[in-house]
Amino acid sequence: MKHLTHLAALCACLTSLPVAAHVQEVMNEPDSVYLFSYATVNDAGRSGLKLAWSPDTERWFSIGNGYGYVKCDYGAWGAEKRMFNPHLTRDEKGLWHCAWQLNESGKEWGQATSPDLMKWNPQSYYLQSPGEGTGIQGSETRKKAVVEGVVEQGYMQKVAWEEVDRLLKFVDYRAYRDQLHNERTEQDAQRFAGLAPVSLQLTVRPEEARPISDKLIGIFFEDINYGADGGLYAELVQNRDFEYTPKEGSAQGWDHGYAWSVWENGKSSAIQVATEHPLHANNPHYVVWQAKPGSSLRNTGFDGITLKKGEKYDFSLFASMPEGSKGGKVVVRLLDAQGKEVAQASVKVKAGDWKKQTAVLTAQADVEAAVLSLEPELTGELHLDMISLFPQKTFKGHKNGLRADLAQTLADLHPRFMRFPGGCVAHGNGIDNIYRWKNSVGPLEARKPMRNLWGYHQTLGLGYFEYFQFCEDIGAEPLPVLAAGVPCQNSACIPGKLLSGGQQGGIPMEEMDAYVQDILDLIEYANGDPKKNKWAKMRAEAGHPKPFNLKYIGIGNEDLITPIFEERFEMIFKAIKEKYPEITVIGTVGPFYEGTDYEAGWKFASRLQVPMVDEHYYNTPGWFINNQDYYDRYDRSKPKVYLGEYAAHLPSRPNNIETALAEALYLTSVERNGDIVSMTSYAPLLAKEGHTQWNPDLIYFNNKEVKPTVGYYTQQLYGQNSGDTYLPADRKIDNSRQDVQRRIGTSVVRDSKTGDVIVKLVNLLPVPVKTQLNGLTQEEGQVTLQVLSGTPTDQQARPVKKEISLKDLSQYEMPAYSLSVIRIHLPK
Ligand code: AHR
Repeated sequence: MKHLTHLAALCACLTSLPVAAHVQEVMNEPDSVYLFSYATVNDAGRSGLKLAWSPDTERWFSIGNGYGYVKCDYGAWGAEKRMFNPHLTRDEKGLWHCAWQLNESGKEWGQATSPDLMKWNPQSYYLQSPGEGTGIQGSETRKKAVVEGVVEQGYMQKVAWEEVDRLLKFVDYRAYRDQLHNERTEQDAQRFAGLAPVSLQLTVRPEEARPISDKLIGIFFEDINYGADGGLYAELVQNRDFEYTPKEGSAQGWDHGYAWSVWENGKSSAIQVATEHPLHANNPHYVVWQAKPGSSLRNTGFDGITLKKGEKYDFSLFASMPEGSKGGKVVVRLLDAQGKEVAQASVKVKAGDWKKQTAVLTAQADVEAAVLSLEPELTGELHLDMISLFPQKTFKGHKNGLRADLAQTLADLHPRFMRFPGGCVAHGNGIDNIYRWKNSVGPLEARKPMRNLWGYHQTLGLGYFEYFQFCEDIGAEPLPVLAAGVPCQNSACIPGKLLSGGQQGGIPMEEMDAYVQDILDLIEYANGDPKKNKWAKMRAEAGHPKPFNLKYIGIGNEDLITPIFEERFEMIFKAIKEKYPEITVIGTVGPFYEGTDYEAGWKFASRLQVPMVDEHYYNTPGWFINNQDYYDRYDRSKPKVYLGEYAAHLPSRPNNIETALAEALYLTSVERNGDIVSMTSYAPLLAKEGHTQWNPDLIYFNNKEVKPTVGYYTQQLYGQNSGDTYLPADRKIDNSRQDVQRRIGTSVVRDSKTGDVIVKLVNLLPVPVKTQLNGLTQEEGQVTLQVLSGTPTDQQARPVKKEISLKDLSQYEMPAYSLSVIRIHLPK
């Protein structure tokens, strides 16, 4: 599958341009020259394999100013992806082989092949030199060459001049492409100096209407940035299960006692935890408290516990006391920052095994950051676990439910599907960290909490049941994504164990049957008959006897396309296809819009005839502006596309009018290609202020407030105004400049449910665009106009809505930097 953009045309032109200045001195073009391949030592080869050429082995010229032709992909981001002593050779068929050492030990090797040094096949890793014909063997020794004034060590070989010439043009092409991708509105004053208002004639051709996906806008949910615990999941007690696990790199105090303390005589001390008599094997830790009147056990919640005056809160805990103990009352209080009580209730505990106790507290005041305080009226050893506090007002009032304001903000997007649980959380940091759905269902105390890939704790309280229920509540199709039997491609690696549980590892093949069965069981959990299947029965017991009607399942997330991945994916795919042919399986094609995993992933998915693949790309606004034809050239006979993660990223990662409009512009091209692009979801979705691992996100929040971004409104305007039929339209713009034309996006769709026609107009220019809309012949009809506009750096812009008439539309003017959504309610 070849996806050269319109830049391809430019590349073709480049081949006929005079070559760069440093080549001029050998314009009589030798038949052959020397190629020098090396990696720079000062960055431990992180910038990859570099190339230089020379006519005589004396004067060396860099090819691409240090461009890394292939970078090592082994290990976790940042620290591990290194390349030592790369050795480039070529076999008798002309295939290039590059082999390098992965670390200073020199024992572990990486290897990759390329037909042309520009495109590289997937990398392999070895515990010893990969051997003959792979770039390792050979009599050459490393030589020194001075490239750009720096002495480098590498290998030399003779190659035809035309190969170097091709590489030089390739880097020129990349440089040009980078320039386009770096297009930013901050350059607009200069770029568009003197630009007069533009006119657009948009003539709709309803007779050429064609069906498009009605599920284009969905949401990507991942427990990143405290999206679940401390976020969408309404639990107010942090570390309710005492399962926070200490680990290297954890924040100070991040352990089983995190967010808890014992208070006595005005002084706090750490809690004591034990594991001897757990409430459940999956939840081994509990607090052991020598309780006595005057002492208290306190929890600070997630940045405090925010309370609303008059609202009720469900408190619960599990308690046990050694036989023979005298039980008694434990007062449960909520205290404001001054220690003043704002709510009170009590529970009774007694000797014997674990028992659940509950109480309801009513807040007497609004409090931003309250503390939960358990105050015993008894003396004795008390064991407590699963200490929980939930607002009764959750979304739709569900027990163990979701935070109402955040959930409503998601519902307001009108998402047609919801992805869960990631992202990288789905496949985890190493195989032991893969998200296992069975750990997330059933009684809360039996769920198996774990540290998530983003470095904090997941209770899995917002598990698969809560997820399916939320999808049903908001009318979104569930789209679970499960690991393809391999962990995150950026998992840490275990030294000396290349193919074990880390990045390159996979679930051992002898365990794969059970893993495949787990995935099939999820389908039963969602859709099965409770009378026939134990997982379906579990769903019914959780309160949902009817099926959730699962139709999609994603397998894999941005995985490296290696034999280990392929073998496991194929097993899972075939098993689902055989048993549940009605389920659409979505494959994965790497983390970028091009490159090795993208190409290998597409090839693999096409061969297996996977119905849909999940593409991810976080790119600059300039990329989105200049790649609106990305899907126009996709092969219609190949798998469909789920653009599962995307966002426009500016250097300081704001979410502003510039990024929101770049996304809006691109979405016009997605609607145009809605025959092959079936779904899209912006990522990430949620971010708690003060706890973000990733920016930008769609919705920021703290305990009190939800703060949708400008990008949120792009998604909402598209989500609330989606269609299922695309109406092609001719565009006539009175300015022939390409960079002007590319800043104007148009899309016309019809929604068959309402009969409404929806016109989306995006103007990323600093001048207004007068728009004449032709081809929609109706004389009368009510029109709802919504406009999102602002200066490019504006982070507060909100859509403005008004009702207008069809006549007003005949001369509509798009404001500078705006998205206009025109919904025409045509009389039926
Ligand atoms: O959206 C944040 C992360 O980006 C996802 O977890 C991962 O899939 C991608 O790399």
